Amino acid sequence: MASSCTILLISGSLRSGSSNVAALSTAAALLPEGARARFFEGLGELPHFNPDLEQHALPSQVSALRAQLAAADAVLFSTPEYAGALPGSFKNLLDWSVGEGLYQKPVGWLNPSPYEQGAERTYDMLRVVLGYVNADLVPAACVRAPVRRDSLGSDGLVTDAATRALIAAAVRALVDHVARVRASAT
Ligand code: FNR
Repeated sequence: MASSCTILLISGSLRSGSSNVAALSTAAALLPEGARARFFEGLGELPHFNPDLEQHALPSQVSALRAQLAAADAVLFSTPEYAGALPGSFKNLLDWSVGEGLYQKPVGWLNPSPYEQGAERTYDMLRVVLGYVNADLVPAACVRAPVRRDSLGSDGLVTDAATRALIAAAVRALVDHVARVRASAT
């Protein structure tokens, strides 16, 4: 089901050489025909969430995030777990997106942890937040896609065939869901 669909890719890691970025980059490389991907690049520049700023001039970095969320047909997340929870910088992004851009937005995630039950709590928490903002969570697009750091190609993409297949299936599920939602709206 070919569909013009723009997926916003959001990594919860700021680390260079990030396995979360590698997973999302591989998703971008495995998009079905007609779909496009865009990385949100501003995670590290977002100011600390402060509701007071909503009333005055909203920081430009936040406006940029909200514009990219609004322009996307779907969002694909991938985040580390730090100390048993969502990374603070990623939760900060989510706080800025409450009521602004994730409502009924088709979303999925890639959990690249190579460990059995790795990062489980962080995705449990992401599920809670996405439920709170009434995002349209697409179960088939929420997958474990184990990325071993030594399994990246020179292009930074995942080389392991099984993980690539998991990522491709998740992206396909997200794109097909967008097409179904669009078709049911006409
Ligand atoms: C971690 N890591 C980690 N992993 C996990 O499954 N549960 C955890 O609680 C933690 N805690 C933790 C704290 C800190 C300070 C660091 C630096 C790391 C491991 C971490 O999630 C893992 O290395 C990911 O691969 C990091 O993602 P990127 O940076 O590779 O995208």
